[in-house]
Amino acid sequence: MGNHKNPSHPWQQHISQLAYQATLREAKKRWDLDKPAVNYRWEHVQTVVKLGLELAGITGADPEIVEAAAWLHDYHKRGKDDDHAQKGARTARELLSQTDFPLKKISGVCNAIASHVGLYKDALIEPLEAAVLWDADKLSKLGITSLFHFVGFWAAADRGSLKECLSELQAALEWQEKTVLSFNTEPARRAGHKRLKDQKEFLNLLQGELEGKDLEARS
Ligand SMILES: [Fe+2]
Ligand SMILES: [Fe+2]
Repeated sequence: MGNHKNPSHPWQQHISQLAYQATLREAKKRWDLDKPAVNYRWEHVQTVVKLGLELAGITGADPEIVEAAAWLHDYHKRGKDDDHAQKGARTARELLSQTDFPLKKISGVCNAIASHVGLYKDALIEPLEAAVLWDADKLSKLGITSLFHFVGFWAAADRGSLKECLSELQAALEWQEKTVLSFNTEPARRAGHKRLKDQKEFLNLLQGELEGKDLEARS
């Protein structure tokens, strides 16, 4: 399992494995699946780690805080309305303190996890590591990548046809517009605008294909 090929510290390997196990518990609880064909949550978490580290590199946020927070941010996610952020912050403190993760950075991780929720918001998040986690988490829910993630989620939840899935994806554009306006960092805001544009184009193309609009009438 996992994609964390060459971790340089034992905590990275340990924490990513725990994060993976948590995604299986979520799939079991939500959909009674022992091993989903497409593990939406695991795809999402790995993407948040990748995007978080990229953003940390650009913005100067502490990469260790961002990475640990990204692995553990959805550890307790089990449904739509839960208090997984607060629970995740508590668990992160407990888990990380048993590893070689720098002790003085643990509070930064907990703080970032505690404030990662909400699909959009009015005010900027601080400090920078919390801002970066929020942005990476939400960026993972935008763009072509997110369409694959959401289709995987849809399939795991056994919710019906591609056409129905498409109309749900089109409806999601409403909150996704607000998400783009809520980004904390400039690079995420820029990428968000681009992703939303690409996503709309992709959805239009998909709808056109499903409806056969790309077939030319012969005269
Ligand atoms: Fe979350
Ligand atoms: Fe998340």
